[in-house]
Amino acid sequence: MAGGALGALGALSVAAPGRAQSVWTWSGSGSVAGTGATTDPRWVWDEEADPLVASLIDRGDVPAVNALLRTWTKNGQPLPDGLPADLRTFMESARQLPSWTDRGKLARAADFNTRRGLYLGVLYGLASGMMSTVIPKEARAVYYSKGGADMKDRISKTAKLGYDIGSLHAFEPDGEMIVTAVKTRLVHAAVRHLLPQSPAWVQAADEEIPISQRDMMVTWHSLPTTVMQKLTAWKVPMPAADSDAFLHSWQVGAHLLGIRDEYIPASFTEANAQAKQVLDPVLAPTAEGLVLSDILLNLGSGIDGAILTKPILGAFTRFLLGDKIAQWLQIPREPIWDPLLQAAWGPFIAVREGLLPFPLAPQAYWLFDEFLRKAALLFLSEAKPISIEIPVANRPS
Ligand code: HEM
Repeated sequence: MAGGALGALGALSVAAPGRAQSVWTWSGSGSVAGTGATTDPRWVWDEEADPLVASLIDRGDVPAVNALLRTWTKNGQPLPDGLPADLRTFMESARQLPSWTDRGKLARAADFNTRRGLYLGVLYGLASGMMSTVIPKEARAVYYSKGGADMKDRISKTAKLGYDIGSLHAFEPDGEMIVTAVKTRLVHAAVRHLLPQSPAWVQAADEEIPISQRDMMVTWHSLPTTVMQKLTAWKVPMPAADSDAFLHSWQVGAHLLGIRDEYIPASFTEANAQAKQVLDPVLAPTAEGLVLSDILLNLGSGIDGAILTKPILGAFTRFLLGDKIAQWLQIPREPIWDPLLQAAWGPFIAVREGLLPFPLAPQAYWLFDEFLRKAALLFLSEAKPISIEIPVANRPS
């Protein structure tokens, strides 16, 4: 299927997606650091992790490191004995929460995640997840890296991060988010070393080193920034303390992923401004993203052979991301689901939030509520305990 979709899209003239880059004018005064960001993050990667992980790969240390790190799962756990000294030193520093961490906000974020878990599950899966398939650099990096050969596994690993950051003790000693973020930082460093050795990636990507700080911010915006935009558009009641707390958990997450504080927005206003500059202009279809989106839309095939779930997930993607992206992803129009979502989603949320009396059409209400539960489960159940491992190779061609 992958080959077929790539072939089919290869015929399309995709106008050099990924090359659309705006001039960097966002100011570090709007960041959590409050200063800096004068260098376009397009040219910044991870100067601590990258040389270290490249050396681990070249020294042949990665299989042993992965085996040891499989046992490191909780934030409060000491690092396993036997890690190479340079890696241990790096990880001890990388696992520290930033000085600006506000534990009160993290506690509120945990509470927010519990209260809003259903919406968040659906939005991470269908807004953020589907959007990642039209972020060309990300889609290509994922497709041509090792995980690209098993997209379902790859999706579940990414879902683990969404699950961990939203869990009750995410950043507490018995939580897992710090571990997941630090491991992901190592994985990204490995990918920066490995992908340039993939002839297929080099040909498709048209860049020398993947996963710049700018790319990471693009992906970050597909997560909290997009999610908050949708919750706001849906008129979900949102006290400032909730949105601040949710943002804060993602700011700390960004820091732990190795994003420099000078690029991390201090508020959603700043995040929206940065997203306008770095995310909106790069969205475009690619052959690789099409394959990835098809896998996402078929996630429900285990439940119903995708007979019902695929059209519903497709319609929901169109509803969330708009006609243009739906067309890029070759999602067909759904004569029943499209108009139903357009007409009834707003009232449904209002009823759910207690802003409207019980609806005229209770059936539609239950239908949507059931959809929320199933879809959230679908995406989050992909996040079974899974070990994030440093790759040593690219996708086999
Ligand atoms: C791996 C999350 C940004 C490309 C991962 C993993 C997670 C993750 C959880 C581990 C899963 C695995 O091992 O398969 C994130 C988050 C990001 C981000 C939260 C930003 C906030 C990016 C960007 C790119 C990228 C910008 C590319 C442009 C990759 C690739 C892998 C990976 C290629 C490894 C796949 C493999 O070979 O297994 N990411 N990522 N990521 N990420 Fe990211």
